Amino acid sequence: MPAISRLGVLTGGGDAPGLNAVIRAVVKAAANSRIGCVGLEDSFDGLIEPNRSRVLTPRDVTGILRLGGTILGTTNRGNPFAYPVKTSEGTHDYSDRVVEMFHKMGLGALVVIGGDGTLAIAHEFCNRGVPLVCVPKTIDNDIVGTTNCFGFDTAVAFATDAIDRLHTTAEAHHRIMIVEVMGRHAGWIALYAGVAGGADAILIPEIPFDITLVAHGLRERDKWGAKFSIVVVAEGAYPKGGSASLVEEARAGFAARLGGIGAMVCDALAREIGKETRAVVLGHLQRGGAPTSFDRILATRFGGKAVELVRRGEFGTMVAFAPPDIVARRLEDVVGRTKTVPLDFDLLATARSLGVTFGD
Ligand code: F6P
Repeated sequence: MPAISRLGVLTGGGDAPGLNAVIRAVVKAAANSRIGCVGLEDSFDGLIEPNRSRVLTPRDVTGILRLGGTILGTTNRGNPFAYPVKTSEGTHDYSDRVVEMFHKMGLGALVVIGGDGTLAIAHEFCNRGVPLVCVPKTIDNDIVGTTNCFGFDTAVAFATDAIDRLHTTAEAHHRIMIVEVMGRHAGWIALYAGVAGGADAILIPEIPFDITLVAHGLRERDKWGAKFSIVVVAEGAYPKGGSASLVEEARAGFAARLGGIGAMVCDALAREIGKETRAVVLGHLQRGGAPTSFDRILATRFGGKAVELVRRGEFGTMVAFAPPDIVARRLEDVVGRTKTVPLDFDLLATARSLGVTFGD
């Protein structure tokens, strides 16, 4: 296999704290292996137009380890395989154009940093012969094959801090505070932040809830003198027999946008319990800010491993965390699947044993 002298790196999907840490690790590790890096802007869009990319040297990535967001820009809108795109050189089938540009730019490999949608796109390009290695990214922590994605720990830390702050006001006003967190169709953020923040009810998509059982659990607290409660609701949680609450339906190339369940639970609990309730949606605050040290280390390990796989020619792979190791997984074993909270997860049992209700 001829040695690779130049690789392209891109970030796709929603931003997550730690993206810049991966970019930095890739650029530095590649430079130390005499591989040049080209940063592709706004996900695969950087492989459509020649002016949407730039050479990245170690100097360009110095100081970005601690920064949230991504210096390359990103997008989670539109499926590139679904439609042709207009370029300065006419209308092209997007996928043909990307492959064409990959070769025109003299790239020997791609490092694709992204979530499930981006990994699926990368897999298709891989099947078209583009040599690539993926790095899993998402605050949702729902990618199969890796125990952790960078961004998750930072999101959980932020949500935990928010719950801590809500505790003081809930206690002062004897209220029920409802906190809606992100996570799409997985309850990882809600479960981890809920347990870390000492929530009294945690509602996750994996366990459809009955609001009367949630209310019963919270009333039990009143019996021993607790005058307030904290309820953490995953955006994808839904009542038994119901479905997830959407703010925007899915349409061609665009995923549905979840949201609104926190307000619904808030109204329903106010009716059931008769106490003052308030709902807070943490939203995109969970994706912002500096990555935690855990996420910086994980992102750095992922970036270093991705370059190692490129050097070895192990393409069609995704780096993954299998504690204590960073390993390679085959893309076909990962894409199109979602890692949800297993119902036999010990943290669920422990939370229940402490009196937390899941509304089931
Ligand atoms: O996948 C990350 C995530 O933040 C989800 O938790 C959330 O449902 C979604 O992205 C929000 O997407 P957007 O930034 O397009 O609103």
